[in-house]
Amino acid sequence: MQLINAISELRQRLSEEASVVLIPTMGNLHDGHLALVEAAKYYGSCIVVSIFVNRLQFEPGGDFDRYPRTLQQDCEKLQALGVNIVFVPDEEEIYPVPQQVLVQPPPLAETLEGEHRPGHFAGMATVVLKLLNIVQPRAAIFGKKDYQQLAIVREMAKQLNLPVEIVGEDTIRAIDGLALSSRNGYLSSTERAEAPRLNRHLQAIKAAIESGQRDYAVMESVATDALQQRGWKVDYIAVREQQDLSMPHSESKHLVVLGAAWLGKTRLIDNLEVDALM
Ligand code: PAJ
Repeated sequence: MQLINAISELRQRLSEEASVVLIPTMGNLHDGHLALVEAAKYYGSCIVVSIFVNRLQFEPGGDFDRYPRTLQQDCEKLQALGVNIVFVPDEEEIYPVPQQVLVQPPPLAETLEGEHRPGHFAGMATVVLKLLNIVQPRAAIFGKKDYQQLAIVREMAKQLNLPVEIVGEDTIRAIDGLALSSRNGYLSSTERAEAPRLNRHLQAIKAAIESGQRDYAVMESVATDALQQRGWKVDYIAVREQQDLSMPHSESKHLVVLGAAWLGKTRLIDNLEVDALM
C-alpha cells in the first residue's frame, strides 16, 4: 500500500491503472468505511481511499477542530484490506487558493440536513468533485448512512456528466442498531447506551408503513416527542421519497425514513429505506 500526499504524484501513479475505484473519507475509519472498501473490490482493481477532513463542509463553530484524526490506525486497517493507495492531501494541496468556485447543489440539498447545516452540502459536493477530478476513478463508493449526501452526489454526477459510476452501500451498524459513525466516539457511556433509540424509532415507523399506515406526520411527531422526552434535541424525523427526498404521498412506494438528533453535544443521523408494498 502506498501513502501519497501530492496530487501530482497520485496522478502519475494512477496513469498506469486501467480501473480505479475511489472511496472518499474523512478518516477515523470504522467498519462502515471498511465495508465500502470491501465493496470497492467488485468495481475495479486499483482501490484508492482518500482521507481528508474537509473544512469547507463544516459550519463555523462546528466540530472541525475536534474531528478525530487517526491516520496511523486508519492506514493499518486499510493495509490489512489490501487497499492500493491512501491519498492524504493536506489543506494547501486541496485548497491552494481560497475556494471561490463552489458546486451549487441541487434543490434536494435544501431540505433536512440542508436546513440544519447551511453550506454543508456545497462544501461536500465541491470536495467530492475535486477528488473525482483528481483521481478520475471509474467508480466511487458512498454509504447510505449519509443518504442525502449520496443522493446529491448522484445528481451532481448525472447533471455534470461525470464519467463515474456512483455506488451506494448499506449502512453498517453496531449490534444494538446504532449506525457506526466517527462521531459516536464523542458519546459518554450513558449517551452511548441511549443512542440506539434513534434507530429504534425509525424501525417503528418503518414497521408502521409496512403494515399499511400512511399518516406520516403523526408517526414523525410521535417519534420526535418520545425522543424529546428523553432529553434528545430532535432536528428532524421525516418520511420522504427515496429518489429525491421530496414529501411522500399516499401512493408512494419507495420511501426512506430519516432522522437527525442531538444527544448532548453529539449530533447523530440515521435512516432506513422502506418499500411500502401494501
Ligand atoms: P465520512 O463521514 O468519513 O464517510 C465516508 C463514507 O463512509 C461516506 O460515504 C459515508 O456515507 C460512509 N459511511 C459512514 N458511516 C457508515 C456506515 N455506518 N455504514 C456505511 N457507510 C458509512 O461522508 C464523508 O466522510 C464526507 O462527507 C466525504 C464524502 C468524504 C466528503 O468530504
